[in-house]
Amino acid sequence: MRDKGFGDTFERFTKTTGIKWLIITITGWFNVNCGCEYRRKLLNKWFPYKQKNKMNKKITIEEILDPISPKVFFTEYWNKKHLIIRRNKFKDLFTWDDFNKCMNLYPDLKGLQILNYRLDGDGRWCLDKVRKGTLKLPMLNKDTVYKLWKEGKSLALPFAEYQKKEIVDICNEFEKYFHKGQANVYASPRAGSKSFPAHADNTENFLFQQEGKQKWTIYKEFAPGKPKEILEEFVLEAGDLLYIPQYQFHKVDTIGPRLMISIHFTNKPKQSLDNFTVSPLGKSKRTQWYNWTPSLPKKKPFQPQLRMVSDTWKKKYFRDKI
Ligand SMILES: [Fe+2]
Repeated sequence: MRDKGFGDTFERFTKTTGIKWLIITITGWFNVNCGCEYRRKLLNKWFPYKQKNKMNKKITIEEILDPISPKVFFTEYWNKKHLIIRRNKFKDLFTWDDFNKCMNLYPDLKGLQILNYRLDGDGRWCLDKVRKGTLKLPMLNKDTVYKLWKEGKSLALPFAEYQKKEIVDICNEFEKYFHKGQANVYASPRAGSKSFPAHADNTENFLFQQEGKQKWTIYKEFAPGKPKEILEEFVLEAGDLLYIPQYQFHKVDTIGPRLMISIHFTNKPKQSLDNFTVSPLGKSKRTQWYNWTPSLPKKKPFQPQLRMVSDTWKKKYFRDKI
């Protein structure tokens, strides 16, 4: 996290040099407060750093594909071959903490899928379809879903675009070049958790590895062929990006707990290198991300609503120890 002021910088310095632990140890001997926290806050208040307004910063395609330029990407990789970008970026779009918060909303959750739940069909248990009655499977309670997760089932959370502003920004940026897309989160609890067998998608896939590692197999063949010959095998780590062109066969093997976001798009009709169209930002049918945080007044304003008309406000609410 970025330092808010000189207090944070000073504290990092004392931690790195070991001074902080020395002070804590000595003050601990004499059972007195070291005052570190008070000093940090005071110095932050006296010498604050200017914070960049992250809410208004837009993510560009150059940042997403860095260090590959958009020109190289579209001329050499798009619709032709997969691309692995190893780096340490965009790995906090969806963390285990976000997953925890999201899963604890169950069953008030949109579109949860349990992969390899059954042997027939596509193997999935889909919350929305079960709820609507279009998938004739039992409704599962939270305990059962948790148990299945602990037993090793992989989970998919579709429509995850609005989990973070950054994901919406990435979608908006890509939607200048592609049709409106979708972000799905894939989560597995351990090595060997089953995901999808070798398959091809009809979308352009951008895979953002978030937590843990996972093994990928890319095949030479494209649909409607069959996956036969392995083109490349590799392990994706948190912060890496993988692009897989539409219709190219691929497979995932879990080698430990993992969290990945698949952001995928269909191509615009008749989009080609000879006739390449780029739409203006925000012109896809995606709804806007709004910043719902109210603007907080810098000075204490006069608030007539706070005028007390009775004596009840003097009542004691056990602020002191009794
Ligand atoms: Fe896929």
